Amino acid sequence: MRQTKRLADRAIESRRAEGPHLPPDLLDLLMAGADPESGRRMTTSELRDNLLTFIVAGHETTALTLSWALYLCAFDQDVQEAARAEVQAVLADRAATAADLPALQLTRRIVDEALRLYPPAAFLSRTAQAPDELCGREVRAGDTVILPIYALHRHRKLWSDAEAFDPSRFVDSKAIPRFHYLPFGDGPRICIGASFALQEAVIILATLLARFRFSPVPGKEPKPVMILTLRPEGGVWLKADRT
Ligand code: HEM
Repeated sequence: MRQTKRLADRAIESRRAEGPHLPPDLLDLLMAGADPESGRRMTTSELRDNLLTFIVAGHETTALTLSWALYLCAFDQDVQEAARAEVQAVLADRAATAADLPALQLTRRIVDEALRLYPPAAFLSRTAQAPDELCGREVRAGDTVILPIYALHRHRKLWSDAEAFDPSRFVDSKAIPRFHYLPFGDGPRICIGASFALQEAVIILATLLARFRFSPVPGKEPKPVMILTLRPEGGVWLKADRT
């Protein structure tokens, strides 16, 4: 932790010395941000904590989404072939960019479905500030209330064939009731990086599927384990052959 904090502190100090980049990056925006009421800007340690939060919240979550999405594609070769047809038609040899996103609908649905079956933030929690009642249960001030996102996303009463990998459920994603699907949470603390993460994941998944054919490695099926995020124990092992 000390080393990571020092690294971030050094980045902030050298940016103060250099001045902002053009176009401004996240650090420039955080440094320029001021509280609308007091006008106060963040101190170095507040900037550092924000930077580290972005790294922790943004990096592993998206990496896990991609790992699980590739695993699901390896597991279902028909979906993978259909996605490859989509991405090769759009990309040919080049890497995907944000401009390709509207044409990558199936790839996007694979990411949506991976986030349903393997939500990286598999549970969320809140501390009750005041006594309340939730579905007939007493909640005391200070109680921790857990939202089991993994269970919600696989609930048989909310999803048909809940355990099946079926990206087509997201063809009409607006028809999915808002609180059945919460990979990014909701409310005031909804993931600030959701749109960025989805774009990043679709761009990377499309580029990989265009270039490689993924197949499972027998005996290496990933077991999901909950260690703050939902991780594949021992990693996702896949064979990647050039297309
Ligand atoms: C697929 C990838 C991602 C998933 C599944 C995800 C999931 C979540 C969830 C569920 C929350 C809400 C936590 C809560 O309600 O307690 C959250 C918050 C947050 N996420 Fe993400 N996230 C992802 C990517 C990102 C990225 C790429 C960034 C940054 C660029 C990011 C930055 C944040 C931050 C800063 C918060 C805290 C927001 C706040 O409390 O106001 N996340 N994320």
